[in-house]
Amino acid sequence: MTALIEVGSVSKQFGSIRAVDSVSFTVNRGEVLGFLGPNGAGKSTTMRIITGFLTPTSGSASVCGYDLAEEGIAARARLGYLPEGSPLYGEMTALEFLRFTASVRGLSTSKVAERIKWVVGQLGLGPVLAQPIETLSKGFKRRVGLAQSVLHDPDVLILDEPTDGLDPNQKHEVRGLIRTMSAHKAIIISTHLLEEVDAVCTRAMVINHGKVIVDCTPDELASMSRYRNAVTVCASTSSGGDLRVTLEGLAGVSSVEHVPKATVSNRFIAFPKDGKSIVGEVTRHLQEKGWEIEELEVDGGRLDEVFRDLTTTGSAKKPLH
Ligand SMILES: Nc1ncnc2c1ncn2[C@@H]1O[C@H](COP(=O)(O)OP(=O)(O)OP(=O)(O)O)[C@@H](O)[C@H]1O
Ligand SMILES: [Mg+2]
Repeated sequence: MTALIEVGSVSKQFGSIRAVDSVSFTVNRGEVLGFLGPNGAGKSTTMRIITGFLTPTSGSASVCGYDLAEEGIAARARLGYLPEGSPLYGEMTALEFLRFTASVRGLSTSKVAERIKWVVGQLGLGPVLAQPIETLSKGFKRRVGLAQSVLHDPDVLILDEPTDGLDPNQKHEVRGLIRTMSAHKAIIISTHLLEEVDAVCTRAMVINHGKVIVDCTPDELASMSRYRNAVTVCASTSSGGDLRVTLEGLAGVSSVEHVPKATVSNRFIAFPKDGKSIVGEVTRHLQEKGWEIEELEVDGGRLDEVFRDLTTTGSAKKPLH
């Protein structure tokens, strides 16, 4: 595999604030790396360094083999960048801005129309092309920003909260677009939407206080949750017996909690020992009792809980392999 992005021991100091602290990683073609982390963790600063908008205090970054400090122009020609917010030229119409971007990016005349048509179609920009950017809604400004970042079909994409402000339909479209483009590119996105990690990322990196604290697949991240392989069950025990006591008695179960729901009272969640699968054991025992299972759901793990643990107490479990 080819590493298109290489970050080596990068740190960035702003006065007394260490925004990025000895961060190292590589991203290969075909990967979508998700940056997760609380506000102020250092995600945008790391992205600005990779895109050449900020110089690191120490360390180095390269794109497609070109060092940002030494061959910045060559590196920046190969990347597309969607910064935070909407730092666009407000007085230009969306179309003027895309034409301007195409000329800055050096697209050949024959390519300009084709590429603009493509991004306009992908991002649903048709209705607003003639409108000055400053008069666009937040979501449409974001879409224009995304359009400029992919217009020249770069090998590397750095997208800072790409779906921020988009309506649910556009979020879905943009995630689809990122997935489609990912086969041939190396992509980094930052997000506060944990479902986005599952939807588009092949890899997730949790950053806190400028440091990388976890770098793994989304599934490994979910496996750190105490809910991993937990089973929520609701069963009719009319033939006699106690669902909670039965679940607590199973060899693979570590603990059981009541899960209230407006319409049913007999609903519990059974947590496994060591995150191992218990659904087989649970089902078998309920069937042996002759109880009718009304609901049975296996949890994949809850990313919000893992995120909270990692970035507040640091107490999430280690990934299971
Ligand atoms: N130009 C700057 N001057 C001084 N401090 C800065 C500057 N840019 C960023 N910082 C500080 O660096 C730290 C990291 O900020 P950064 O914008 O990278 O966080 P982030 O992870 O992107 O947060 P968010 O989720 O809110 O976007 C913060 O403490 C921020 O205040
Ligand atoms: Mg940010």
